[in-house]
Amino acid sequence: MINPNQLLQAFHKRYGSPATIHRAPGRVNLIGEHTDYNDGFVLPAAIEFYCWVAAASRHDRKLVVHTENFDETVEANLDSLSSAGKNPWPKYPLGVAWALERAGKRLSGANLLIAGEVPLGSGLSSSAAIEVATGAALLHSSGHVIDRIELAKLCQQAENEFVGARCGIMDQFVSCHGRAGHALLLDCRSLAFELVELPAGIQLVICNTMVKHELGSSEYNLRRGECEEGVRKLRARLPEIRALRDVSMAQLEVHRRLLPEKVFARCRHVISENARVRDAVQALKRGDIRSIGALMRDSHRSLRDDYEASCIELDMMTEIAEEQPGVVGSRMTGGGFGGCTVNLVGTASVETFKQNVAAEYCARTGISPEIYVSGASDGMQRVDVNTDRSV
Ligand code: GLA
Repeated sequence: MINPNQLLQAFHKRYGSPATIHRAPGRVNLIGEHTDYNDGFVLPAAIEFYCWVAAASRHDRKLVVHTENFDETVEANLDSLSSAGKNPWPKYPLGVAWALERAGKRLSGANLLIAGEVPLGSGLSSSAAIEVATGAALLHSSGHVIDRIELAKLCQQAENEFVGARCGIMDQFVSCHGRAGHALLLDCRSLAFELVELPAGIQLVICNTMVKHELGSSEYNLRRGECEEGVRKLRARLPEIRALRDVSMAQLEVHRRLLPEKVFARCRHVISENARVRDAVQALKRGDIRSIGALMRDSHRSLRDDYEASCIELDMMTEIAEEQPGVVGSRMTGGGFGGCTVNLVGTASVETFKQNVAAEYCARTGISPEIYVSGASDGMQRVDVNTDRSV
């Protein structure tokens, strides 16, 4: 865990001035996968792993950004921000500055020190965390009021148009709006959201397969394309639909012949997953843990078979998890093709769960997994070091 006082000291040593700290969390998605870019529903929670950004404004238009994770510094001018260059990490903070300026938020130059603790490339949204924390830091140091919905949207724009990844809104939104002890039900069309309390006695356990299949981002874009194709073809008979969100399972079945087999399967995943999100929220509100577990299992199967977004390691990790005592449910989380599973586990069983899953996964794959236990956390905050409070 990063110590904010040490971060301030490091900032002072590097830039010779005091700074303000903002932090924004990564996320885990409980259910509702590959639904956000189909105008659907998601149920993520922010996690207790953050990206921390210490910042102080400058009197010119320069951004100086140092990351502790790679011990690298980049400099850029706010009047000529460019996404050229091979190094991926600077595109996130610079992209956010670009999106903010394009939206008319005039920024002052700033010195930034970034320290991220969300595991990189593991599907826990380290990118949303750096975007949101940087965005908040830049807005604050330029004297703007922060509107969290607008910030989430601008961070998504940065990732779509500057970084070049066609992600939906889920990750940035929950990084802005998460609440401790709660999952967040988001309608990705209207951006209306509801905080749903997580049951007592259950922990979020995240199992990192430690693999990331390179085809991930190209397959992600392909899936998006297939969903769009589904909507286009279904519109021949259902002219009122705008996204898969608007299609019922009965309609999909009736018009099945309009769609190639694979596109049909992708649509079936999205439509059934939207229904599972709503069912999961009802189950959470009733305290019906068994139903939540069943919905998580169905979600994983649908992602594996219909959406083909899982991989051997993720399937193995969920299978091993399901064999453990005290487990409520297990599924892949995030974009897929590697990364993590999310597991709900009874508090009393968490330690045994961790040990057994790690040993068994290692025995089967030769890879030592990382396993994180996290509460659901608050979204983006300014950290007041003097009072040791978040504001
Ligand atoms: C990635 C994207 C999200 C979402 C998930 C899949 O995490 O960043 O917007 O599409 O994949 O649910």
